[in-house]
Amino acid sequence: MLIDRFGRPVTNLRISLTKECNLNCFYCHREGQLDGERRMTPEEIERIVRIASRLGIRKVKLTGGEPTIRSDIMEIIRKIRPYVIDLSLTTNGTTLYTLAEKLKEAGLDRVNISLDTLDRKKYKMITSFDVLDQVLKGIRKATRLFHPVKLNMVVMKGINDEEIWDMIRFAGKVGAILQLIEIEVPREMEDSQFFKDFFYPLKPLEEEFEKMAVEIRERKMHRRRKYFLPVDGKIVEVEVVRSMHNTIFCMNCTRLRLTADGYLKTCLLRKDDLIDILGPMREGASDEELVEVFKRAVLLREPYWK
Ligand code: 5AD
Repeated sequence: MLIDRFGRPVTNLRISLTKECNLNCFYCHREGQLDGERRMTPEEIERIVRIASRLGIRKVKLTGGEPTIRSDIMEIIRKIRPYVIDLSLTTNGTTLYTLAEKLKEAGLDRVNISLDTLDRKKYKMITSFDVLDQVLKGIRKATRLFHPVKLNMVVMKGINDEEIWDMIRFAGKVGAILQLIEIEVPREMEDSQFFKDFFYPLKPLEEEFEKMAVEIRERKMHRRRKYFLPVDGKIVEVEVVRSMHNTIFCMNCTRLRLTADGYLKTCLLRKDDLIDILGPMREGASDEELVEVFKRAVLLREPYWK
């Protein structure tokens, strides 16, 4: 088991498969967007995941950019499937209507689908593409195949904050979990106009959820709370993700990241934490040497919000 200098175990790997995306959300933190032109092959990803699994990292999330636009996505899933106990994918949902069955067959366990609004015009305003209907069809298909399906809603002041309860009802209707996510920026952007304009604090809403929930569970990862809310005669599961200025969130982070161009990375919001793993691999490093690369990355981990 890998444990960092703050006593935090590392049990999850979030792998960006590509920096490309077929949407262009204006608020996106572009987690996949690094400069490198290298791209890991399915075999290289498999080897990294195999080594990670030896070190106790058994949960993997595939992300991007948009991970499903890689034409070898099924091969990647099949190759890493044997090494993990929880294999999930974060997607914008545009490709799910056609790919959901194949993803399931390849061995994917779960999907998280980004959906910030149910309004077609707003969807286009946020993402630049008029594809809400296509995404909704994908969500319906996904909820028949995967359990659970999570919908990710980034709540933005003046854009979609009035839709939160509609989204909770929608999640209940399709049988999905709703994740409400506070917009997140790095420290140097906290004073930006962008942040001032769009940040919508979810703490007050969490207090409301606390009063009405029939059950509250705390997840290990980030100690994020999940509320079971009675809505329209159903119980809807709602998670709240508040990462900024939240010591609990960072102190309970169990995740390491891998960029599409093959660097281990310790935190979404840092830029000084890249550890090359693909380079040594291509130069013939042994498994033991790659284990050392993992250990070096883990030593760099530190809570971002203290
Ligand atoms: N703040 C919070 N969440 C974001 N996401 C993308 N950009 C931001 C941001 N600035 C979310 C997306 C997607 C997930 C991968 O990250 O909505 O669901």
